[in-house]
Amino acid sequence: MAIQRPKGTQDLLPGTIEQWQYLEDAIRLVCREYGYEEIRTPMFEATELFQRGVGQTTDIVKKEMYTFQDKGDRSMTLRPEMTASVCRAYVEDKLYGQPQPMKLYYIGPMFRYERPQSGRFRQFHQFGVEVLGADQPIVDAEVISLVWNLFQRLGLVGLEVHVNSVGCPICRARHREQLQEFLATRKSVLCNDCQERFERNPLRILDCKNPSCQAATSGAPTTKDTLCEDCSIHFERVLAILGRAGVVYRVNPRLVRGLDYYTKTAFEVMVEEIGAQSAICGGGRYDKLVEEIGGPPTPGIGFAMGIERVLAALQVQDKLPKEEPKLFAMLISLGEKAQTEGFALLSTLRSKGVPVGMDLLGRSLKNQLKSANRQGARYAFILGEEELARNVLVIRDLTLGEQMEVLLIDAVEEINKKYQRGV
Ligand code: HAM
Repeated sequence: MAIQRPKGTQDLLPGTIEQWQYLEDAIRLVCREYGYEEIRTPMFEATELFQRGVGQTTDIVKKEMYTFQDKGDRSMTLRPEMTASVCRAYVEDKLYGQPQPMKLYYIGPMFRYERPQSGRFRQFHQFGVEVLGADQPIVDAEVISLVWNLFQRLGLVGLEVHVNSVGCPICRARHREQLQEFLATRKSVLCNDCQERFERNPLRILDCKNPSCQAATSGAPTTKDTLCEDCSIHFERVLAILGRAGVVYRVNPRLVRGLDYYTKTAFEVMVEEIGAQSAICGGGRYDKLVEEIGGPPTPGIGFAMGIERVLAALQVQDKLPKEEPKLFAMLISLGEKAQTEGFALLSTLRSKGVPVGMDLLGRSLKNQLKSANRQGARYAFILGEEELARNVLVIRDLTLGEQMEVLLIDAVEEINKKYQRGV
């Protein structure tokens, strides 16, 4: 049997890849406008980085990591996310020694052993940003507004931006205690996962989609009720800046993120139309993470969005560009000598940036012309033995059905002129 690709992965083929490039171009443009620089880190890291960074009690670390022993018997893990990696690089490459804050972005594959379904993959791609070394509420607002502006520019509608504050370790401990107290008498109606969460991570119960857990947590104390003064002032300031900047958000006191490192601001962007996996972006502040992995105390904030999910939303809302890039011209040559000369001509044109193709299958003249038409080429350059003998090239406009002859020595200049003028 032919070998198949692993479950939960995709081949991105021509025809689809243009959509990815369109989205990536828009991302890079917005990042440049906001002053973010790209960072690339390894696809795999020491397992301990994610255990310490993402958190031992999270689903990601407990169930979803691709972990393996390498030949030197070290435990390695394919990155399930990149925030921990960026913080590791910040410490290891001493980025804290550079002017602060560091404003970084990335686009790349992540790996999680999840149950594949629509919008959920085992290899998926994220665009994310991380700002390290700045604790002001204005930074939280900048990061959220970058997401907002990108989605506005892409033309996405019906987005819900949910914002919350999960507090600092002090107010979170208070919240946890109050929540456990509230849930103690309702524990038996919680789903199996939430029964387990009760001890190790009760906050996540607030986030559970199971109807009986939702009913059990109705009226439960939220993070908002327990925020300390500092966290509360920070949160109000973030909301005020966002409101003035025109970002439409909703405060969702039940929003709890699935990773352990968050402090203060947490947010998610949802698009209902794409189905159950409606979260297209998630992020928040993580002021203790750099220290947690052995670096100097450094505040941080960022987000990541699922490229596959953003593309699905663009698809459903019919916001992807339709125009496929067309080939500018095909060379139609007949005979070995004309093929050799034609090939040399194409090499010169290509080196000047003109996209041109030629027959590679030894087709007849008629079939070469057919194939040029099929590929949507604007021009056919015809070079047969007769043209060669007269040192000319026929340029046929396949849209208008007109043709002209140019001297071979002038061909590059003439064609390049046409290409630059876009005619
Ligand atoms: P996350 O919420 O785990 O956060 O993932 C962010 C986004 O990645 C999700 O909202 C979703 O769009 C996409 N995503 C996650 N898992 C999958 C999957 N299996 N298949 C398809 N898409 C998926 C993080 O990863 C944090 N590192 C975000 C962050 C950055 N927080 C601070 N800085």
